[in-house]
Amino acid sequence: MTKRTVTLTDNATGKQVELPVHEGTHGPAAIDVRSLYKELGYFTYDPGFMATASCSSAITYIDGDKGILMYRGYPIEQLAEHSTYLEVCYLLLYGHLPTSTELSDFSRIVKEHSMLHEALRRFYGGFRHDAHPMAIMVGVFGALSAFYHDSTDVQNPRHREISAHRMISKMPTIAAWSYKYALGQPFMYPDNSLGYTENFLRMMFSTPTTAYKTNPTFVRALDLILILHADHEQNASTSTVRLSGSSEANPFAAVSAGIASLWGPLHGGANESVVRMLSSIAESGNVNQYVARAKDKDDPFRLMGFGHRVYKNFDPRAKIIRKMCHQLLAELGAENQPLFEVALELERIATEDEYFIERKLYPNVDFYSGIILRAMGIPLNMFPVIFALARIVGWISHWNEMMHDPESRIGRPRQLYTGEQPRDYVPIEQR
Ligand code: CMC
Repeated sequence: MTKRTVTLTDNATGKQVELPVHEGTHGPAAIDVRSLYKELGYFTYDPGFMATASCSSAITYIDGDKGILMYRGYPIEQLAEHSTYLEVCYLLLYGHLPTSTELSDFSRIVKEHSMLHEALRRFYGGFRHDAHPMAIMVGVFGALSAFYHDSTDVQNPRHREISAHRMISKMPTIAAWSYKYALGQPFMYPDNSLGYTENFLRMMFSTPTTAYKTNPTFVRALDLILILHADHEQNASTSTVRLSGSSEANPFAAVSAGIASLWGPLHGGANESVVRMLSSIAESGNVNQYVARAKDKDDPFRLMGFGHRVYKNFDPRAKIIRKMCHQLLAELGAENQPLFEVALELERIATEDEYFIERKLYPNVDFYSGIILRAMGIPLNMFPVIFALARIVGWISHWNEMMHDPESRIGRPRQLYTGEQPRDYVPIEQR
């Protein structure tokens, strides 16, 4: 078969360059522009990477127009229905669904690493009592890089695997303790007799005086949220982990940079905004007024939890989580109903109103995950922490993939310089 190429002509000089086209296994092909600068002396310009594949990856596939999300080729709908978060972690890391022996070995290994070094525990005390839990997460996770000198050779696949296990395993403990610290409650140590998600809920809500009574619907709902947020290909935080890791930096430090990126309101903070918005609407009792504001060109207000940069048809994760949201709220009864009623009303309007239909604005995953987390009693500032808890496996799978990719180089984007022309230094007394 002949290889596809694209020929680019510089209209100013008539010079041409033939650029190879790389076909993926699914989705759009990519033009290889690496020879462009050498041949024509140009860079490509694409702020925000709107049309640039920064790497090749075999982990996650998204088709935003068709509303498709797959991890390692498995549709998210099937994983959400049949799998668990820990099994999805295995799948993302190793590329295949585990046998029962592989899964039980993996679960055992993950459990073995669940405690934190006692010296790391003392790091929490250095934060102000009112520190945002994400600030604590960035600091404490980065500090892990000071603890594991037995596995720092990032070129060694076994060292990378040990680091991956440690991160997945310690993340629930680090996350739950960031919450406990803000409350001033004693840290709860992990209980390895429990499942991954249940253990996290116990570390958050249990105290030495009162045991946490497990609600199986909460465990399943949180596990589902973790599955749905486990990876989303080259998003801002994952790209951050890849870029910082590309210098062969310590993996814990690279992931800490990813946590920092996720913290931003344009990335991991959206579900928190959804709940704040639903609460204001519920308080005002006037859904229509907010909808009118969202449609008003002169008002910057937007309906939080609606629309998506990639999914322009529907967000497949939203469909799945909507069902769980209904189930959970039906079980919990009246207490959470005001927020949910507002949510249902907004949902109805979005499917009937021309403004939303024309612009393909559908409720996204954050619309429902915010409601679920709120109903479970998880405070708003912990929402991005839950996102980080889920995404840890995505970050580490991408980092690992990058480290064994022979095409991988240190990330070093170029720029379009728009500054001053060369000029001479002026002595201070002459300025
Ligand atoms: N409410 C009202 N109008 C909206 C909304 C909204 N939530 N989102 C987009 N629009 C309008 C926008 O005003 C524009 O209208 P017009 O064509 O008349 O100028 C049109 O829809 C297209 O919007 P856009 O800003 O070009 O779309 P985008 O792809 O750049 O933005 C978005 C995507 C998610 C940033 C945006 O829809 C938004 O701000 N949504 C609310 C915040 C939110 O829920 N974010 C979470 C996203 S899911 C997170 C994840 O997957 O990690």
